[in-house]
Order: sequence, then C-alpha cells, then structure tokens
Amino acid sequence: MPSIDDELSPLQLNRFQHLRHFLTIEGLSRKHLTDILDTADTFIEVGSRSIKKVPLLRGKTVANLFFEASTRTRTTFELAAKRLSADVLNINITTSATSKGESLSDMLRNLEAMAVDMFVVRHAQSGAPHFIAKSVTPRVSVINAGDGRHAHPTQAMLDMLTIRQHKHKFEGLKVAIVGDILHSRVARSQIQALNLLGAEEVRVIAPDTLLPPYVDQFGVKVFSSMKEGMRDVDVVIMLRLQKERMEGALLPSEQEFFRLYGLSQDKLALAKPDAIVMHPGPINRGVEIESAVADGPQSVILNQVTNGIAVRMAVMSMAMSGQIAELTADEEVA
Ligand code: NCD
Repeated sequence: MPSIDDELSPLQLNRFQHLRHFLTIEGLSRKHLTDILDTADTFIEVGSRSIKKVPLLRGKTVANLFFEASTRTRTTFELAAKRLSADVLNINITTSATSKGESLSDMLRNLEAMAVDMFVVRHAQSGAPHFIAKSVTPRVSVINAGDGRHAHPTQAMLDMLTIRQHKHKFEGLKVAIVGDILHSRVARSQIQALNLLGAEEVRVIAPDTLLPPYVDQFGVKVFSSMKEGMRDVDVVIMLRLQKERMEGALLPSEQEFFRLYGLSQDKLALAKPDAIVMHPGPINRGVEIESAVADGPQSVILNQVTNGIAVRMAVMSMAMSGQIAELTADEEVA
C-alpha cells in the first residue's frame, strides 16, 4: 500500500544522507536515530546549567507554526531553539493573516522573505509539513511537530531517549502501547522507531474500534486484552483518547474504557516489576491512567517532558548543520 512516507522520507535527507528536514521516522536508518539520541544526550547537561545556552543556532531564526493546539510540544520547541541561541517567532495562527484568507503558501513566502531559517510545523492534516518541505527554498529546514494521524517524530525520539536512559538498550525489550492507536500519530512514529532500534517486541493493546486498518502490517503484536498484552513488558506507553478526532461513538463510555484499558496499579502489576510507565501527555487521569500510577515510582512521564527539549535541540542543530554541509558543498562546486 503506497503511503505519504514513500515520498516523504527521501525528501528529508540531503545528498550526504544527513537530516535536512525531520518529517517522519520512516526511511531513516538505525544510525540516524542513534545519532539523534547521542546528540540529545550531549544537550541534557545544558538544561541543568545555570546559563542554559549554547551558540549553535546563533543568528538563525526559527518560526513555530502551530495550526493545532499544543502546550508541551510548542513550548519545548521554543525552549530548545532559545537554548541553541536562535531567535524564535511564535506565529499565532488564529490571529494571523491565514485567518484573513491568505493562503499557507503566501504566508510561507512572506516568512521566507524575512529570512526565517526553520519552520516547526504542527497541523491537523496529515502531510502538511511534507507539503511545506516541498515548497521551501533550499536553505530552509522543516521540522514536523505532529501532523494529523500520520507522524510525530520528535515525540517518538524523546520517548526513545527516555527508554534508553532507563533500560540502556533496546534489544530484548518488550514494549506495550495502549489505547487509542487509531488516532495516534505518536504510536505510529514510536512503532517505527522501536522496530528500527531493535526492540524485541512491540505490542499494541486496544479495542478493535481503536485500531487502524492493516495494523498487523505495522510490525506489532496485537492484543485486545490488558491481561495478556501487559504480561512481562518492560515499557508501558499509555495514549490519550483523542476525542477531538473521533467521529461517532467508538467506545461505550470512558468508565468502561478505564475498566478495560486504563492503567491501574493492578494492571501494571502484570508487567515486569521494573517496568516504566510513559505517556506523551496531556494525560487524562481516570480515563487512560489512574493518578496512583501517573504519579507513582514507575512513572517517567515528566522525564519525557525534560527529554523533549534535548531531543528537539538535537534535531534542530542536526538539520541546520545538514544545511550548512550542503550549502558549503554547493559553494565549492560554484
Ligand atoms: C500528542 C499529540 O499531540 O499528538 N501530544 C504531544 O505532542 N505531547 C498526543 C496527544 O495529544 O494525545
């Protein structure tokens, strides 16, 4: 089945196979992912300094284009860019000229005319960052901050960093992703990253109504019961019910969903005793996770947030250095 990734993945690497844009995990190599994680590791320390800045993106301008609501992702992208010493523009789309009828292309051309070097894009439509990456001038990078149900590659990478910090390697790990897989761009990117990095088994646990068609072709084991799916896992990733994306009733009720799929201490006890609990946020307490688990000793949910800054610093600096390598090579030829 052809997917938008077939077109997307070649677009995001330059001729030296360096990241130029970061649009999807699909099509990247294990080495690309490990390079992102290793680079992010070097940025973690920057966040604990009293002066949390390095000059890697000094003089560069980053525009955050969030066409869909976000708190964590937008603010951690902003902090990441600022800690790299970039200038950051947060374009408020609801009050921008696109709401006065200006087309997206015209808005982008205007921002390019202001010499913006990087667009960070979140959009409700799958493929929107791809569309933007195809149309920008060669010196501009595009980072996908979540598009529709398609991909959320920086979230997947901050999750991989969190797993690596706690479990040290991916080989031998059993990871369960639980809940609304159907609407989740996060799950899609996580599944690709976990398989690429060599996790032993990626499981999805969900009712049939919250599974995408052809899920068995994603490289996962599918479970409809927590009792079986949670057994012996090393990592549990809970997902939010994406009610804003649901058309019609896919569930009897939230209470029923919590009873069957919500992460309670009882259900967590089925996993390995040292299993970690993750969630991309925002969490809905009492819907997909109970407070005792979300705030409990196995939860690494806030570590994920902290790691988001380091991963976003890594991806932004790698995309910028990919651009510089390409431009330098062009100048040498000219
Ligand atoms: C996720 C998203 O927007 O895809 N959140 C995030 O980026 N931290 C998941 C969600 O909204 O449930």
